[in-house]
Amino acid sequence: MGIFYCEKDGTFTLQTKNTTYQMKADRQGTLLHTYYGQKTDRTDKSYWICCRDRGFSGNPYGMDRAYSLDTLPQEYSCFGTGDYRISALKVKNTDGSAASALRYVSHEITEGKYSLPGLPAAYGTKEEAQTLIVTLQDCATNLKVELYYGVLEEVDLFTRAVRITNDGEGNIVLQKAASMSIDWQSGAYDRLTFCGRHTMERNPERARITHGVQSVGSVRGTSSHQSNPFMMICDESTTEEQGDCYGFSFVYSGEFLMETEKDQTEQTRLVCGIHPDNFEWTLEPGESFVTPEVLMAYGKGFGAVSRIFHEAIREHICRGEWKHKRRPVLINNWEGTYFDFTGDRLVDIAQEAAALGVELFVMDDGWFGRRDDDNSGLGDWYPNEEKLGCTLQELGERITALGMGFGIWFEPEGISEDSDLYRAHPEWAVRIPGRKPCLSRNQLVLDFSRKDVQDYVIDRLKAVLSQAPISYVKWDFNRSICDKYSDALPKERQGEMAHRFVLGLYRVLEELIRAFPHILFEGCSGGGGRFDAGMLYYTPQIWCSDNTDAIERLKIQYGTSFGYPVSTMGSHVSAVPNHQTGRITPLSTRGCVAMAGNFGYELDVNRMTEAEKTKGREQIALFKKHYDLIQYGSYYRLCSPFAGTVTVWETVSPDGTEALVSAVYHHVQSNPAPVYVRLGGLREDRMYRLELIGVREECTLPVNDGEDIFGQGQILSGAALMHCGLMVPEALNGFQAWQIYLQAQ
Ligand code: GLA
Repeated sequence: MGIFYCEKDGTFTLQTKNTTYQMKADRQGTLLHTYYGQKTDRTDKSYWICCRDRGFSGNPYGMDRAYSLDTLPQEYSCFGTGDYRISALKVKNTDGSAASALRYVSHEITEGKYSLPGLPAAYGTKEEAQTLIVTLQDCATNLKVELYYGVLEEVDLFTRAVRITNDGEGNIVLQKAASMSIDWQSGAYDRLTFCGRHTMERNPERARITHGVQSVGSVRGTSSHQSNPFMMICDESTTEEQGDCYGFSFVYSGEFLMETEKDQTEQTRLVCGIHPDNFEWTLEPGESFVTPEVLMAYGKGFGAVSRIFHEAIREHICRGEWKHKRRPVLINNWEGTYFDFTGDRLVDIAQEAAALGVELFVMDDGWFGRRDDDNSGLGDWYPNEEKLGCTLQELGERITALGMGFGIWFEPEGISEDSDLYRAHPEWAVRIPGRKPCLSRNQLVLDFSRKDVQDYVIDRLKAVLSQAPISYVKWDFNRSICDKYSDALPKERQGEMAHRFVLGLYRVLEELIRAFPHILFEGCSGGGGRFDAGMLYYTPQIWCSDNTDAIERLKIQYGTSFGYPVSTMGSHVSAVPNHQTGRITPLSTRGCVAMAGNFGYELDVNRMTEAEKTKGREQIALFKKHYDLIQYGSYYRLCSPFAGTVTVWETVSPDGTEALVSAVYHHVQSNPAPVYVRLGGLREDRMYRLELIGVREECTLPVNDGEDIFGQGQILSGAALMHCGLMVPEALNGFQAWQIYLQAQ
């Protein structure tokens, strides 16, 4: 039982294994936020709310000059009625005013986790989860707002979403409908956001929350490379291991806004939801709007909160046959051939790869329509048999005859002007009448907000997926969306297009995963441009970045790991010099980094030397051997790629009896100081045998051999490794990687 209501004091206390969340409907009916943090008792925490007469903070109840919405901590803040801080809800009422005031009406507690129609959301059985729905109402307009709270007790996870219903008489327009707001009454906080760009996604950035409004978000149609819909709010002194830390993950793949504000009395507010810039939603009488969901977690240190999100996403967001099924080691031909391939060339690559132990071959962009570069063909999802030299079925059969799965690339939301689809349906492309649409990668966007477009894409993809033995789909989207307008919507509803586009995408994905449950769908948007918990509900893994340079990947995967588990990050070994950076790194380093994800290769195996193939074979065998540990272990960030000389991370099996420590030197120094790390998650009372594993490169420096420094087969106690630490073996060459396997004796 995780949800408790106390009629006497009006408190709702939500409990998980280690955390407590509390709110209270006060005498006026305002739903106050009273507590979120370390697990406490259920007593009313409103005692520490400070009410005093403050000039210019208005009083909705006249004579009570100490009662002001401008200073009270609230569950769902409204625009226009005296709370001058950032708000979660802004409604244009029938009379043209933009004001709402919500008061508690009723609540309901149910077993199991609520779901959201047409939207991704965490799921949980009656044994795992409970739902609280608190109904609020604006008495002046009859607007009904139902606040949804999901409690997943064992996971330490709360979820929030909102249903807004127009119970009034005329049309209203939602101008902002955030999924949550939350207030901290005391404390000085930092925010950790994850920003970047194409080929350099999710770089963590820590900043003090100062007075005024700070925000991250996206108006690009997708969650974007530039900002990620995941944020941490932490104490100024929080580290990986200690200090208050809160995480918020928006389960949505479209435009979002996460705003923070420190107010006049040093309180901090967070509001998170759909970005209001491209949003206006009309509700006719009786109609409802449901917001996407936010996942929330609290813990001590960034590491603890990340591990909650890892479990929550792995176990309660990712679904279907592939949730726990072993994901295949794959080879993708993109960097190996780009558009320049034939069926025979692909089979040659697949054949060599199969001999190394690769389990799936993925045919990337260029197999359809007229598509020999990225200027044409998008939308024409018909195999180019002339280029392939055979039918798709024949190619699939040749690949599967090698004992591999066969995968295929699509960009269903893309449309080239030079395509048969565009020539037949120019009105299906997103553009504003009378305005020349902006091209990006020389392509337009297919209007997924339209039902006829969705139906067409579903039918076409079903036809392709049924004509060959396909077990994997890479779902790409290679541009941001502007010129937002849909021919299918009236002018007063154009503000709905961006969100309807995302709902359309979700519908198409849902139909396809239902029709082809055995197919593993991998998300992608120019790499990591749509890496969010929303997509992970449909595609349990996402190509993490178009940057395959192992050293750059350290940063990208490090940042991604704050909010997302290793089992969701597509990560491949590519050729050197690296195609994005020109850097040369050892094959063992590339393997070590790629193994911290959905492991695969992205090169032409025929161009590998025999020695490299041998190493590749060993790498794949090693990954397969430690698959469960890597994919399901608890993940610890030990040294950051943004500091020092070496990036170190660790995965520990759920029972703490085995662990894998991976270390990659991103900066090599002469006469270096030793680097020590304290391991996490081991059992204090057990002894561990340490073993250097992985493929060793030729040493180019005549310094100590790692095995001597480190002591192959050394046995150390869990307590020593966690409290005293482990010395990371020195680098023997540039960008050296070490993998150290620990097993309890
Ligand atoms: C995107 C993907 C790449 C590749 C290309 C093909 O950039 O991220 O992996 O599939 O598209 O055009």
